[in-house]
Amino acid sequence: MSTKVNVSEVRGTVDRHFGEYLEDLKSLVRIPSISFAGFDEKSVRKSAEAVAKLMKKRGLENVEVLDVEGAHPYAYGEWLHAGPKAPTLLLYAHHDVQPVGREAAWTSPPFEPVERQGPAGLRLYGRGTADDKAGILIHLAAIDAYLKSAGKLPVNVKVVIEGEEEIGSVHLGMFLQKYRERLSADVLVLTDTGNFDSGVPGITIALRGLASLEVEVKSLKGPVHSGMWGGPVPDPVLALAKMLSGLVSSEDGSIELRSIKDNFKEPEGAEYDRMKAIPFDETAFREASGMLTGVEILRRGPSVPGQLWRYPSLTVTAIQASSRAQAGNIINDAAWAKVSIRLVPGLDPKEVLDDLQMTLKQAAPWGVQVEFSHANGANAWSTDPEGPVYEAAAIALEKGYGVKPVFFGCGGSIPFVRPFAKALGGVPALLIGVEDPHTQAHGENESLLISDFLKSIHSQVELFNEVLKAWK
Ligand code: BES
Ligand code: MN
Repeated sequence: MSTKVNVSEVRGTVDRHFGEYLEDLKSLVRIPSISFAGFDEKSVRKSAEAVAKLMKKRGLENVEVLDVEGAHPYAYGEWLHAGPKAPTLLLYAHHDVQPVGREAAWTSPPFEPVERQGPAGLRLYGRGTADDKAGILIHLAAIDAYLKSAGKLPVNVKVVIEGEEEIGSVHLGMFLQKYRERLSADVLVLTDTGNFDSGVPGITIALRGLASLEVEVKSLKGPVHSGMWGGPVPDPVLALAKMLSGLVSSEDGSIELRSIKDNFKEPEGAEYDRMKAIPFDETAFREASGMLTGVEILRRGPSVPGQLWRYPSLTVTAIQASSRAQAGNIINDAAWAKVSIRLVPGLDPKEVLDDLQMTLKQAAPWGVQVEFSHANGANAWSTDPEGPVYEAAAIALEKGYGVKPVFFGCGGSIPFVRPFAKALGGVPALLIGVEDPHTQAHGENESLLISDFLKSIHSQVELFNEVLKAWK
């Protein structure tokens, strides 16, 4: 195939069919594909099948639901007729979502997508609208628009949509082993990160890693009357609270683990200056995060935005012992918590997890029993945004958004990136996406800015073409 593709025609096709792409997105959001344990696994499979069906409808070939034992399914499809000289892009997104949190805190039900005015304009509300079902549609819409208007794409594409990103891609190693050959590509393009601001595109150049585990503290065979037994019998909830509180400093919240203190390198020199120069609007930060009046910002390093991806952080993501409804006068038999540490380059997930277990165990008072489970880790990732792919991306995003993209780091994690880029021989990974600061990914009332969704599809159309140009 040699006739040239007219990109502005393709973009016209995007505009004409945008309503359909939005409907495709809504159809995916209606499937509650929560990958966490304890939720209906069949919904995640249904979601993978729905993605596969959309892939076929939008012109991809050899579409398949890919399985790995014990894992939530991936959806796969390809279009490989751009010829051997054109590069092959591996396009990634994920179709699983986080749990919804407090159902009652949602203005509209999480799995019934609705359009409503919100911050920065008209938004689509629902779990997974932005993280990351829009990411799936960005790929599929761009592909569809090319095939509809030109009958072909400028590049070869392989589309991989994962089903367990939100639980740490626990079977990634096995998936890679099984499907590596089929997934060989020249460039990775992931649509699972955020824009710099509403209407301002971003290219993510760093992600934090993650080390998480669950800890349970036990002191009794069952709960007992706190009046009859209180005093001599140790309270496992207090024991756990003491163990957890020692993990961070009370001043700035920095992590008190040797594996982190010894290996973390403060930014200095040019990096320090670059971070210092990142503009920080405290009011906007407080507003977007929802921090309450009087609550302090725990600052570390030269700037708060830089801190979010250049410094490690520790969070207790859940804690449990009895419940509000069952809060009788008892000494609980057990207390449980999930601890999650965001890592930066230089910090090893395995080492941090070992250290965390040892430190918690050593801090356990009164001889309480301590058990760990579900330890999971992912490495941080960062790149030098140099070379033709990043240049092509910068041009494409500017054409799609009408605004130059900002290269910036991101505090979240995507376990897929590092092992996959490595397995494909160190290919460049391009991280883009349509979350904006008002998206509230993982929170209640998650939403997608619809105008940015359209701009992202336009950018993706431009990207395919710009990558081909840069390749030559
Ligand atoms: N889309 C996010 C990653 C992200 C977060 C990008 C913030 C841009 C801004 C992704 O789906 C995610 O949430 N990943 C998990 C991975 C974890 C379970 C290993 C995360 O960061 O918590
Ligand atoms: Mn995501």
